[in-house]
Amino acid sequence: MRPDELREMYLKFFEGKGHSTISGSSLIPENDPTVLFTTAGMHPLVPYLLGEPHPSGTRLCNVQKCIRTGDIESVGDSSHLTFFEMLGNWSLGDYFKEEAITWSFEFLTSSEYLGFNPDQLHVSVFAGNETVPVDDESIRIWEKLGIPRERIFELPMEDNWWGPAGKTGPCGPDTEMFIDTGKAECGSKCRPGCSCGKYFEIWNDVFMQYRKTDSGSFEPLSQRNVDTGMGVERTVAMLQGKASVFETELFTPIIEAISEGSGRDMQADADTGQAFRVISDHLRSAVFILGDERGVVPGNLGQGYVLRRLIRRSVRFARNIGMQEGFSGPIAERIIENYKHAYPELETQRERVLSELMTEEARFEKTLNRGTVELSKVLEQMKVHNQSVVSGRVAFRLFDTYGFPLEFTEEICSEQGLSVDRKGFEKAFKKHREVSKQGAESFKGGLGDHSEATTRLHSATHLLHRSLQLVLGDHVQQRGSNITPKRLRFDFSHPAKMTDEEKQKVQDMVNEVIQKDLSVAMEVMTLGEARESGATALFSGKYGEQVKVYTMGDFSKEVCGGPHVERTGELGHFRIKKEGSSSAGVRRIRAVLE
Ligand code: ALA
Repeated sequence: MRPDELREMYLKFFEGKGHSTISGSSLIPENDPTVLFTTAGMHPLVPYLLGEPHPSGTRLCNVQKCIRTGDIESVGDSSHLTFFEMLGNWSLGDYFKEEAITWSFEFLTSSEYLGFNPDQLHVSVFAGNETVPVDDESIRIWEKLGIPRERIFELPMEDNWWGPAGKTGPCGPDTEMFIDTGKAECGSKCRPGCSCGKYFEIWNDVFMQYRKTDSGSFEPLSQRNVDTGMGVERTVAMLQGKASVFETELFTPIIEAISEGSGRDMQADADTGQAFRVISDHLRSAVFILGDERGVVPGNLGQGYVLRRLIRRSVRFARNIGMQEGFSGPIAERIIENYKHAYPELETQRERVLSELMTEEARFEKTLNRGTVELSKVLEQMKVHNQSVVSGRVAFRLFDTYGFPLEFTEEICSEQGLSVDRKGFEKAFKKHREVSKQGAESFKGGLGDHSEATTRLHSATHLLHRSLQLVLGDHVQQRGSNITPKRLRFDFSHPAKMTDEEKQKVQDMVNEVIQKDLSVAMEVMTLGEARESGATALFSGKYGEQVKVYTMGDFSKEVCGGPHVERTGELGHFRIKKEGSSSAGVRRIRAVLE
């Protein structure tokens, strides 16, 4: 079965069970400061999992592009990917465990669908803890479907609990489905969840019936939801009897391009194999991030920093297999070719993807040269003082300040008979990571945040958007939005810095509309109807998809998930705090309500 067939079959199957297919979202989350990327299909659905009605009903399914960079160091084995496609089906307070598990089983094993041998299927369920009991109900359902008890594994929270990306949000126990690849167990502790490659996890059914609160406790949600995620790459690999996702046609054209560029064979040895896998994974992610509808560019913060790391890590591995500057272009071309029918945005953004990759490669080259100079200074000093080990602190400084990778430091040192205190480096790295993590966690808000402050800023964003169009021109389009309870941040296309006069005009216009105390109304219609009625629609969905349209008097009309205030008069006084550049051709405004 080819990937296209799998995507289509999955959606058809769930449509047959009363689900509406909805569009996948951008990789860059909107109005959510708690995560950098869309990490799962449920992410854009958080408000609906918490009880807000979805315009397409209570049973939904889709294909969602996802980025997860938490385990970036694991990339290079047979199954870890930083970008992947997730097939998902959802019940928003509709069906629960019985239907979800039974349908998963049917789709996996029926000869009409995936046709896996039920004997290959292993599952895990939540083992329970002090506050939530063992998931007996799921165990019973699996047994009823014919899975013997010894193939149902009870695992703790770290394996079988899906938690919120931010600190708070919807969560619950899950049941995961694994295909036994037939490989020998790696030891007596080998079980589903083990990373040796014997058990391939392909699907996860989450039973979201709790909400994690600020204090860390779990309170029951007003509705019981189902959230499932099936990995396209992994499932295709298992259906095709491959030992790794990299052997499927989602990757083989990319692997070929690396082979052509390096003149090497992936199978040559273990290191070469790893380099091929890392390069193909990281560049695939980079192409999808750059080619996203709300694409970001490499930078030192947030999404831009993750993108930069992905590209630079791929350059590093490319060097190891003898590829020179400019290597990423032909590989990216192949990735776009391989995916453009399913993700047309990649084709639309082709020029940008290629030019940004090239620029970042060149920048990294400079960084490496600077780092090499810095390192030789260090090595000279060490020779003077008769030292033979580069301290972890110094290696980390080279990494942090100059972007010089540890492996490069180690390589150059070993050529001169010196070594690096790797443990010391890791300690410094960990300390740094904890500090930056605290920074990230201090963000409050997110899609689950319906606080008054966030709601007001959300409504103000619509007024700002429309005012910018009226003052600067119709070319102004939203390129990103990010809201915390304290401020809004709005990115939009505009070629020049705004003058003080323009800023004042926009601010005055927003405040005038607030003072007019316009009423805010919501209507559900198809995306096509919304577009025809003149509503601003940011996302590229299907014509017939149901959406919510919010109008504020006769001033603004936008497709949006909400929530919003009832009257603009509730917003108070609007003030632009800062206007600056976000990236080429994109400006960024920070504003507050006082
Ligand atoms: N949200 C669940 C996952 O990503 C389905 O595994």
